Amino acid sequence: MTGSQTEANIRKTLLISTDHELIGMAKGAFDASGEIRIAVLQKPVSEVATEIRESHYDALVIDLDATSVTDFEQLQKIKRMAGTSTAIIVISENFSPSAARILIQLKVTDFLVKPMATSDFVRSINNALKLSSQNAQVEPQFLAFMPASGGVGNTVLALEAAAILNRYGKQVGRSTCVVDLNFQHGSCAEYLDLEPRFDINEIENAPERLDRQLLDVMLARHASGLSLIAAPNKPSDMRSFKPALVVRLLDLVSAYFDYVVIDMPRIWFPWTETVLMGSNRTFIIADMTVPSIRHARRTIAAIEEKGGNQIKPQVIVNRMDTRKNVAGLNATDVTAALDGHLVGTIPNNYMLVRDAVDRGVQLSEIDPANNVTASLSAIIGQNDENAEAEEDGKSSILAFGRKLFRRKAA
Ligand SMILES: Nc1ncnc2c1ncn2[C@@H]1O[C@H](COP(=O)(O)OP(=O)(O)OP(=O)(O)O)[C@@H](O)[C@H]1O
Ligand SMILES: [Mg+2]
Repeated sequence: MTGSQTEANIRKTLLISTDHELIGMAKGAFDASGEIRIAVLQKPVSEVATEIRESHYDALVIDLDATSVTDFEQLQKIKRMAGTSTAIIVISENFSPSAARILIQLKVTDFLVKPMATSDFVRSINNALKLSSQNAQVEPQFLAFMPASGGVGNTVLALEAAAILNRYGKQVGRSTCVVDLNFQHGSCAEYLDLEPRFDINEIENAPERLDRQLLDVMLARHASGLSLIAAPNKPSDMRSFKPALVVRLLDLVSAYFDYVVIDMPRIWFPWTETVLMGSNRTFIIADMTVPSIRHARRTIAAIEEKGGNQIKPQVIVNRMDTRKNVAGLNATDVTAALDGHLVGTIPNNYMLVRDAVDRGVQLSEIDPANNVTASLSAIIGQNDENAEAEEDGKSSILAFGRKLFRRKAA
C-alpha cells in the first residue's frame, strides 16, 4: 500500500480545521510515501477564502459547526469554488437530522461525526477518491486463530492461512497482515524469520499515539508481501494490556489491510472476546488427542458464554491421523465430540512443517502442492476454484459480513 509513488499519482487532500486532535489524527493517518497526501489549512471554515483555488485538491475535508448557518453558506461557496471534480467530506460533532438533510442536498461526498475512528476517516477519504475502487469496497476480513491447547500448531496454521490469503490477495490488489497477539511469547516473527518491531511500551499508555506512521515503523514485512505485527519476546514480563490498545491496533490495521489474520494466545485476556466478536471467522485449533479435543469443547463453551451467538467458533483438528488401526481417537470420535463445530482437519506432515519453520519460509515454498496448504485452503474457502468464483461474489471468504473492526461502507 505504501511505496514510492510518482507525483502524478499522488492524490491531494486538504483538511480545513482548527481541531488539534483531528489534525494530528489526519496527519498520522497518511504517511508521506503513500498515494494520498494530506495538507492542513488551520483556520475556521468561515475564514477560508480563495486559498483552495490556488492548488487543485482531489478532496476537501471540512470540519464545521453543523448548527451554524454561516458555516453551511461557506460550505456551499467552497463547494462551488472547488468544482465538481473535488470530493467534499464534512466533519462535525453536532449533526442534527436537518443538518444531514442539507448535506445530502448539497451532495457532499460523505460526512463523519466526531470523534471518529481513524479507520473511518481513512476509508471515507479512500472511497471519496475512489482509489483502487475495487479495493475500497471490500470489508476487511478478520480471521482469528485460537489454540485449544499448547503446541497444537496454531501459529503454523495462522501463518499458512495468511500466506494463502496473501497469494490470492496479490492478484486482486488486496493486502494481508498477521497480528501476533501473543505479546510476551509470540512465535510468528520467529517462524517467518523476521524482526518483531511492535513496541508496546511506547504506546501502552497512549494508544491514540498509534497512527499510520507509527504503525509503519512497527510493521515487519516478509519477502512474500505479507506484513506482520509482532512484539519482541519478553518471557519474564507477564503483563496484560488494556483492551483499548488492542482495539486501537486492530482498528488501525483494518484501515490499511484487507485480510487480517490473528494469532490469539490461549489465555483469555480482557480483550479476547472483543477481538473474537470483531473477527469474521474464529478458528479453534486442536490436535488429535483427547485432552486437546476436551479443551476445544471448553473453549467453545466459554466463547458461547461470553459472546452468545455473535461468535461462531469453528474447530480445525491439526495433525490428523486417519489411520484406522491406531489406538485412541479416530475421526468419527472427533466429529462426534465436537458436535457440529468441526470445520476441517489438517494432515500430519512433520517433515514439511519442520523444514518450513526452521528455514523461516512458507509451506508452499517448500512444496507448492503440499497437503497442509491444500486442506487449509479448502477450509478458509480460498482455493483456486473459489478465487475464480469470487468475481461473482460467491467466495465464502467474502461472504461474511458486518463486524466490529469495520470499514465504512462505500
Ligand atoms: N500439520 C502439522 N504436521 C506436523 N507438524 C506440525 C503441524 N502443524 C504444526 N506442527 C508442528 O507442531 C509444533 C507446534 O506448532 P506451533 O508453534 O504452530 O503451535 P502453537 O499452537 O502455536 O504453539 P504455542 O502453544 O507454543 O503457541 C511445531 O513444531 C510445528 O512444526
Ligand atoms: Mg503459537
